[in-house]
Amino acid sequence: MRIVLGVAGGIAAYKAALVLRLLTESGHDVRVVPTRAALEFVGRATWEALSGHPVSTEVFEDVADVPHVRLGREAELVIVAPATADLLARATHGRADDLLTATLLTATCPVVMAPAMHTEMWQHAATRANVATLRERGVHVIEPDSGRLTGQDTGPGRLPEPEAIVAAALAAVDAGGACDLTGRRVVISAGGTREPLDPVRFLGNRSSGKQGVALARTAWARGAEVTLVGANLTVPAPAGVRVVEVGSALELRDAMRASAVEADVVVMAAAVADFRPAAHTAHKIKKQPDGTVPPLELVQNPDILAELTADRLRPGQVVVGFAAETGDDSGDVLHHGRAKAQRKGADLLAVNAVGEGVGFGTAENTVTLLDATGAEVGAASGSKDAVAHAIWDAVVDRLA
Ligand code: CTP
Repeated sequence: MRIVLGVAGGIAAYKAALVLRLLTESGHDVRVVPTRAALEFVGRATWEALSGHPVSTEVFEDVADVPHVRLGREAELVIVAPATADLLARATHGRADDLLTATLLTATCPVVMAPAMHTEMWQHAATRANVATLRERGVHVIEPDSGRLTGQDTGPGRLPEPEAIVAAALAAVDAGGACDLTGRRVVISAGGTREPLDPVRFLGNRSSGKQGVALARTAWARGAEVTLVGANLTVPAPAGVRVVEVGSALELRDAMRASAVEADVVVMAAAVADFRPAAHTAHKIKKQPDGTVPPLELVQNPDILAELTADRLRPGQVVVGFAAETGDDSGDVLHHGRAKAQRKGADLLAVNAVGEGVGFGTAENTVTLLDATGAEVGAASGSKDAVAHAIWDAVVDRLA
């Protein structure tokens, strides 16, 4: 793939060298376009040596080749990492005062920006407005990580790790330039809840969180602003999304309800424990010398999906649930799925078969999509990203 890697003038420019390395090692042809300020941090020789191409910052270099038009037109993907507050502002206003901003104006491919700056600059109203405008136009802006910044300060503003930036950018290309969730806010729960019994033990389940993470990655790639409520995820959250970590069903419920107030789409992909221990002790439960086994009393957890469906915390919101079924003597997977669709009332229910080695933790998935009446409205099979795209297709139909 022909990729333009734009580098703006921030200390995180050194991490862009690793982004470049990852891209070239996967066989991509990368042209690096730094800004003048970026060269203060990492010199031209580094970019030229690692990309194997000459590097310029200005539209007046190599004029016969008209690089400010050609680079953007030919690119199949543009990544800007780091994107500074100044670069975001110039891109928002359509400035073309260097080769990078000129290239952004001529690019017709997916554009992915990974901002990095001090927390105050990231949170400033001007930057917030610029990011919102860029997202409305279909630019994929990755949320910065929180953590140690240049000096002693910590907070949101750190450039995500190079692997995460590359994965997010490739997901944007995978989405085929579809930006049909641009301007939409989605909140997705993923993983499996753990219901504490004592400080060291819990009741849990086999969910890895892979399908929910795939939904978050693909929604982001299609332009959505994504909040991922992750319960004990065993896979890393994708770059670009806001992550809220939770442990138990009750914590997951609070986090989902808080985000759902602003969401256009709510997806319950987490495996929520139906029951929790009635009490959890502050101390580790000890074996009794006489061999008495302590009783385990359970109470029922709230049905978060049913509540979200009944309450519709934002008008017009589309609510999506999953039904993990095994089938039994009283009926097969789909039979139980239909009954669940009618009981839960979600706009879409993705029914899948689960069990040991099926559904949980696997790379592939097969789902049937049902509407609130239990009627079949779609089906998907393949990678969890492919299944996620099919679910977003059905969601987009409903949002329209
Ligand atoms: N769910 C939920 N709250 C619960 C249990 C499940 O929100 N306490 C959600 C899940 O996230 C999923 C859907 O409900 O989107 C169906 O989950 P599933 O475990 O298949 O169904 P249950 O409601 O638990 O029904 P049952 O265990 O009887 O099959």
